[in-house]
Amino acid sequence: MNDQAARLRHETQKVDNCPSFKTFAVVSGKGGVGKSNFSLNFAISLIELGHKVLLFDMDIGMGNVDILMGKTADLTIVDFFEGRQPLTEIVSEGPGNLSYIAGGTGLENLVRLDQHLLDKFFDEIAVFFEKYDYVIFDMGAGLTEETLNFILSVDEIIVVTTPEPTSITDAYSMMKHIHLQDASLPFLIVVNRVIRDYDGIKTFKRLRTAARKFLGRDVKALGTIPEDKFVQQAVSSQTPFIFEEKSRAAKAVKKMAYRYEHKMIQDLPASSPESFLTKLKRLLSF
Ligand SMILES: Nc1ncnc2c1ncn2[C@@H]1O[C@H](COP(=O)(O)OP(=O)(O)OP(=O)(O)O)[C@@H](O)[C@H]1O
Ligand SMILES: [Mg+2]
Repeated sequence: MNDQAARLRHETQKVDNCPSFKTFAVVSGKGGVGKSNFSLNFAISLIELGHKVLLFDMDIGMGNVDILMGKTADLTIVDFFEGRQPLTEIVSEGPGNLSYIAGGTGLENLVRLDQHLLDKFFDEIAVFFEKYDYVIFDMGAGLTEETLNFILSVDEIIVVTTPEPTSITDAYSMMKHIHLQDASLPFLIVVNRVIRDYDGIKTFKRLRTAARKFLGRDVKALGTIPEDKFVQQAVSSQTPFIFEEKSRAAKAVKKMAYRYEHKMIQDLPASSPESFLTKLKRLLSF
């Protein structure tokens, strides 16, 4: 083992022995279903419950969580991957004590990083993520080779869909793709833009039935978010909708965070024994 690999193993083992943070990837099949709005507002809801949360914008080339909160980060994750800045320098402060790392263009080089940069990444991430209780990756729609490794490294996958048939089938395709790579990863479903409660339940049941029948596995419902004009207003005014008292979407997301925190998601599987870092390291072929 070379010196760099030994150091890396040491760093990751420190975290493996005592994993202090939980990682989520927020994904969808179809684009524009509300992943970024969910990620941002769910993150702030977890903070309101007393947790430390890092939101990581991993949308390649289209990162926009900072725009949703009226910020323009000077530095993005690309500055780190291109070796210009350490992780600690690219974290920005968002509303409600949120820490976030802005996305940027150029992440397509992620899997082509050289050994030195990957060593540096794992060294820094091992220390850095320990400051948080939750790390949430807001992913772009669909899958790319570059983002799949990140998705496969997390503890739980949050799949966002709307009740539209195309959104449901695309969500299922995404779940199938991930499942075929790692059948042990838990899926939590969020149905967004629900007009009638019944449509939310029906959407979840369709995904659950497809997962049981074709993948031989279960999925869990994190919850539903109603169609809500305050979401569009919040996007326009670049303020997270969670702060709008009258917003039904805000109430729904707060409820999800509460239910998650209190383990009220039925049969929530225990998190994978292999930590985020171990998995990511393996998937990036160390
Ligand atoms: N619950 C909701 N009620 C009303 N409108 C909503 C709701 N959720 C999302 N929207 C609308 O959908 C738009 C897209 O949301 P968002 O940017 O969060 O989607 P996304 O899945 O992150 O998109 P992308 O795939 O491009 O990353 C929002 O700007 C908003 O107008
Ligand atoms: Mg988005």
